[in-house]
Amino acid sequence: MRKVLIIKNKIKEFNKQIQVSGDKSLSIRWILLASQAIGKSKAYNLLMSEDVLAALNALKKLGIKVTLHKNHCEVIGNGINGYAYKKNLTINAQNSGTLGRLILGLLIKSPQTIKLTGDKSLSKRDFSRVTSPLERFGAKFYYKTKNRLPLSIIGSQSAKGIKYLENKGSAQCKSSVMFAALNASGTTSIKAKKSRNHSELLFKYLKIPIKIKKTKKYDFIDIKQPKKIKAFNYQIPGDISSSAFFMVLTILSNNSKLLIKNVNINPSRTGVITILKKMGAKISLKNIRNYRGEKISNILIESSQNLKAINCPQGLNSSAIDEFLVIFLVAARAKGVSYFKDVSELNQKESPRLNFGSKILNMMGVKTELTKDSIKIHGQPNLKITKSITIKNYLKDHRVFMMSTIAALTCGGKWKIYDKDSINTSFPSFLKIIKTINNK
Ligand code: S3P
Repeated sequence: MRKVLIIKNKIKEFNKQIQVSGDKSLSIRWILLASQAIGKSKAYNLLMSEDVLAALNALKKLGIKVTLHKNHCEVIGNGINGYAYKKNLTINAQNSGTLGRLILGLLIKSPQTIKLTGDKSLSKRDFSRVTSPLERFGAKFYYKTKNRLPLSIIGSQSAKGIKYLENKGSAQCKSSVMFAALNASGTTSIKAKKSRNHSELLFKYLKIPIKIKKTKKYDFIDIKQPKKIKAFNYQIPGDISSSAFFMVLTILSNNSKLLIKNVNINPSRTGVITILKKMGAKISLKNIRNYRGEKISNILIESSQNLKAINCPQGLNSSAIDEFLVIFLVAARAKGVSYFKDVSELNQKESPRLNFGSKILNMMGVKTELTKDSIKIHGQPNLKITKSITIKNYLKDHRVFMMSTIAALTCGGKWKIYDKDSINTSFPSFLKIIKTINNK
């Protein structure tokens, strides 16, 4: 059954405080690294979403003990390359590109063939972007359909470090190779275009031998194979990507204010804040603190009038990569024509988000000029939707669903948004939080 969300009214004025669920990138990275450590690791505030549960299920299939408790999750690792490889094993990464791509890095020594599958959306995404570098460690990959899941991997016992150029600004590609480096003898050297650096910060915290040299555009990362990784406990901070929907909800609502507590504001993730502030949004950071190399803060957002269009600097693309759909909504309500360029990576996500984002704006009556790698959005500060809009057949992309919900709650119109369950991918409590905000 495809569950539908109907929205007929805008959200009422609000002044609230919320907390969003745990960061997805950090949740998946903690799970995978804990599985390579020796002994019991615990995570608090781990995101309980389908992508993360898929990661836990993958570990169980690889012989790792995983238990969920009331307030935390425990993983008992068997050390580096300590998986119990069974014959005819299939791992299902479901919707998660992060899981599918990162776990392959940890399987480059698998003595058995392992099959990796995913859902309809993941099976449309390019896996050669990780299997090409991983092949150079000695692993072998077999595809039925070129570069698409399902694939099979068989590892190599003599995996050796490689030199790798990551030129897309993809943290998934960079991290897949970093995880492979844990299993490869010698040193792996990566030249990577800037992207989120959670893996690097976790490696540093875990005392995995890592050296990083930063230049403006690239990071140069050297990783030596560690002897072992110690078990570690981790408190996962709130996800800025989930927070972004509520930032935009507040910015585009009247006379409202919202405090989002304990959000990860790692600078490699805060493009959304920089972009929205440049457009005139009222956002401030309160009580900034450090946690194991990550920055955490409360975020205060206020309704913002007089929003202005942006010519978005390309340098911010990677640090806002998952937030463009909601940023487009702000552009739709800003004065002038906003321009986002070199954003073709958006079409490589859970759905072709550049195309879908443009289509939704058009349905809202907003003019766009779309190319393969850019979009211009003609803003309408007084945009008021009165017609009916149906959002359907978007590959169940969680972020398309949430963007549409925010559009409905801030711009009006009668919306019918299909596949309500898609929020379970990254943010199962999304609609519950909206309800608490909407209740006086
Ligand atoms: C992620 C990296 C990004 C992002 C994804 C999560 C990660 O993908 O879109 O949601 O956790 O490494 P790319 O690395 O492909 O840009």
